[in-house]
Amino acid sequence: MAGCHLAWLVVLLAVGIPLLEASPTGLNLPRLDVAAPHYGGSWASASSAIFTNLFKHSTPFECQSRGKGSTGAWGWGPGEALTWRPDGYPAEIRSLNSWSEYCAVARVGAGAAYYAAGKYVLLYSGDGKVTLEGDASVTAEGPGRLELSIKLAAGFAVRIVRTNATNPVRNISIVPAAAEFSFADTPYQASFLELVKGFDVLRFAWWQRIWGDARNPQMLRSLADRATPASATYLGKDGVSWQDMVTLANQVGADPWFNLPLAATDSDPYANAMATYVAQNLAPERRVYIEYGFAAPGWMTTEYPTNLVRVARIWRAAFAAAGLDSKRVVVVATYEVPAWIPYLSSTFGANISQVDAVAVVGSYGSYRSWNSNRPCFYEFSSNTFAQDPKNAGIDLDRVLQLARSSVIHADVLHNSWHQRLRAMGKRLIAVQAGPDRSQMAAAYYSMRQNYNNILGCKSYPCTRSGLFPPASSSSMTFATEAERNATLAQIWPQAQNEWRLDELLMQSL
Ligand SMILES: *[C@@H]1O[C@H](CO)[C@@H](O)[C@H](O)[C@H]1NC(C)=O
Ligand SMILES: *[C@@H]1O[C@H](CO)[C@@H](O)[C@H](O)[C@H]1NC(C)=O
Ligand SMILES: *[C@@H]1O[C@H](CO)[C@@H](O)[C@H](O)[C@H]1NC(C)=O
Ligand SMILES: *[C@@H]1O[C@H](CO)[C@@H](O)[C@H](O)[C@H]1NC(C)=O
Repeated sequence: MAGCHLAWLVVLLAVGIPLLEASPTGLNLPRLDVAAPHYGGSWASASSAIFTNLFKHSTPFECQSRGKGSTGAWGWGPGEALTWRPDGYPAEIRSLNSWSEYCAVARVGAGAAYYAAGKYVLLYSGDGKVTLEGDASVTAEGPGRLELSIKLAAGFAVRIVRTNATNPVRNISIVPAAAEFSFADTPYQASFLELVKGFDVLRFAWWQRIWGDARNPQMLRSLADRATPASATYLGKDGVSWQDMVTLANQVGADPWFNLPLAATDSDPYANAMATYVAQNLAPERRVYIEYGFAAPGWMTTEYPTNLVRVARIWRAAFAAAGLDSKRVVVVATYEVPAWIPYLSSTFGANISQVDAVAVVGSYGSYRSWNSNRPCFYEFSSNTFAQDPKNAGIDLDRVLQLARSSVIHADVLHNSWHQRLRAMGKRLIAVQAGPDRSQMAAAYYSMRQNYNNILGCKSYPCTRSGLFPPASSSSMTFATEAERNATLAQIWPQAQNEWRLDELLMQSL
């Protein structure tokens, strides 16, 4: 049980664990924001528990407006009223008509405020007026410096209501009063550093907001408007600055794993500047893992090898140019579909010599076609599993036995990849480990859902449609409440079995 419990933690943190060797344990740093799809991401709820400067957790600025001279609430504002600087601050707030006023607003902790309540200071450069609303209230105000009292409730809004176009408001920091003079050297909250301590590798993919392939705009980065410590937010297109990622790796003593955007040519300015920055600033005892994009697509393509090999060349050259050992750069080819491992040589050709390690999803129990020859947890969520009379008495031991058989099969498979790769002189790395939790659930669209559906009958005769298998039909009509109750009584044991299976699966983790 202890082992299973640990595996659960491992999966929650989504770690990368090189398999089968006495090997370092890594952490996939989780996303900094959770986009709220219904609001186009603008009300994204964002963590506020990582950076000392809370403003690094802010949503990107957007426009709001209200009637001129009004003290009422700000509402939607037209985007044309604002022009932008590359660092994400408004360059200018323009007046579009004589009866409205406009502002730029950014939110911290919208939907998920995790900062500590207390005294803070807000510092800014430039000339203008900054106001606050929500959890933050201003207790004293001077040029470029506001004293704030922040409570912990539902987040706060920061508004730039006036900005001088020749010297615009920028470089906003919101830090605990006690950190006013030290935060430049301590960009991370102590409680966050404590959480990250002890991991050997930190994979920054989600902090860098890298995903997709060469056609995805997210994979195209420009040196001129990259994320820097001066960026308004780290939730912008480019995510966190190189500087702060390298600082984190150096501070906690972990090797950084960077996911890299497309480098159009060997002299791509962004790719070369990043590689040079890391070579010159990463602590000398650290290595750096590099991956092109976020895992290779699940089909054979020459795009992936070509681009991975190009960034490998750029990074090794940058380390060599700085007079450093280019072997400190560990080039990783990541495959979501490990079945491609046998084809590595044919896709990379002679360039395979540039690849140091291959990374795969190391979870067990996944329902994936390429894993179809081993037991998977998908069984648990099949409509028939909980319904099968022989599973009515399923207990924790039986669930753990099924999980173990899945672990054994995964071990055999991972070991075969490990052997193949070792024969080629490459390491195998798992970018994810533990049970595939997405499959650890009893069927939801099944009898328990039908039970809830039928329970909803209010007047009779009552027809319920949208019933799921294993119900004998997708629609049922009940002439009376007694008839409905008889059906509920009949399906109750089956529905209960599904709820029970869920409980067992939770316990097994
Ligand atoms: C804007 O800033 C410039 C340069 O600092 C200054 O000369 C000018 O007076 C400012 N404008 C306003 C309206 O304060
Ligand atoms: C940004 O603000 C900090 C703290 O207020 C200050 O030390 C720094 O010089 C400012 N940077 C720029 C580029 O204005
Ligand atoms: C190696 O990669 C380069 C570009 O990165 C490409 O031009 C070359 O064709 C590749 N060689 C092989 C054998 O695939
Ligand atoms: C049907 O079941 C509900 C809930 O158990 C109960 O309150 C109701 O009296 C039953 N109706 C009949 C007609 O048995």
